[in-house]
Amino acid sequence: MALTDEAVRDALRTVRDPQLGRDLVALRMYDGAVIDGDAVTLHLTLPMHGYPAREELEQRVQTALTGAGASSVVIEVRVDVPAWQGSGEQAAIGGVKNIIAVASNKGGVGKSTIATNLAVALAESGAAVGLVDADATGPNLPTMFGLPNGFQAQSERGLHPVERFGVKVISLGFLLPPGAPVVWRGPMIGSAIRQLLHDVEWGEIDYLLIDLPPGTSDASMSMAQEAPIAGAVVVSTPQQVALEDASKAVTMFEKLDVPVFGIVENMSYFITPDTGQRVEIFGHGGARDAADDLEIDFLGEVPLATEVRAGGDDGQPIVAFDAENPAAEAFVGIAERVAVKAAASALMQAPTIPVL
Ligand SMILES: Nc1ncnc2c1ncn2[C@@H]1O[C@H](COP(=O)(O)OP(=O)(O)O)[C@@H](O)[C@H]1O
Ligand SMILES: [Mg+2]
Repeated sequence: MALTDEAVRDALRTVRDPQLGRDLVALRMYDGAVIDGDAVTLHLTLPMHGYPAREELEQRVQTALTGAGASSVVIEVRVDVPAWQGSGEQAAIGGVKNIIAVASNKGGVGKSTIATNLAVALAESGAAVGLVDADATGPNLPTMFGLPNGFQAQSERGLHPVERFGVKVISLGFLLPPGAPVVWRGPMIGSAIRQLLHDVEWGEIDYLLIDLPPGTSDASMSMAQEAPIAGAVVVSTPQQVALEDASKAVTMFEKLDVPVFGIVENMSYFITPDTGQRVEIFGHGGARDAADDLEIDFLGEVPLATEVRAGGDDGQPIVAFDAENPAAEAFVGIAERVAVKAAASALMQAPTIPVL
């Protein structure tokens, strides 16, 4: 019996995406089929590169279509990262699909390190990635990306991101002439942030990560006012105080109407190089507990590792230079979870898909 378009579509309405929990038609992942008798060639659009649920999804599709009478099923897959629309109150940045803020309530917990390595991991997965260094108090991304001190991206033609390790980077540091004292006041920060977001030729970007300064600063406020942030990644270390700090950051984002993707625990444990013994220098699990208490996702833990620190100082992000290192593997896992969160929020935002 020859299959019809309608029968294929109906079969796919019964297939739930294992990661996103809704059917493929509602999620706009079904992109049409070529039907030849009872042989089907199906086009699917995945919402991220390196989609972890891909294999299981293809299995489910095979089963559903075979059940509907298909004798053979070929699945052709393409990737199109969906864009976060926001509430419409903030101006979207042309070409940028998802803005992701990396934040914490404290300095020195590893925001810049995490923003850098997540950006590189997402770029290595095949996504188009940008990274904004919005830390006026200490723009560290030039160093972490191996850019010389005093590097400037401003020319007569405007402000340009620099591409390193597949990531387009721009920094408040690029706006300062070499050797200039870093004195920013609230309104200056606001206008500098506006420039970094809106006056840059970004091109097509799937994920624009923003490395925020610590705390409830002017920069965080400006950021939330200037652009629709798809989600925030809150970074914490494992100490008891992690709970307090993380919940402050989460409360700030709630007040700013920014969704929180989850919490990352950095410097989670240390593996002694000679004995392989695991030492929990700052304790362990505080951030996971904080996430549970706050009812948000725990995105993963990154070990304390000399190579991570060295990679930051030498401008050689560990994800790009030492992929086998457990810390690099942790970053890749977190990047994947962040991309899943971004896909889920973009695909399920109202009003494109009504809530079931
Ligand atoms: N997992 C880690 N292991 C070892 N060193 C780390 C780790 N995460 C961050 N660091 C180091 O700690 C310092 C502070 O990190 P940074 O990313 O600059 O923090 P923040 O941006 O929150 O101020 C840097 O020297 C960085 O290289
Ligand atoms: Mg920093």
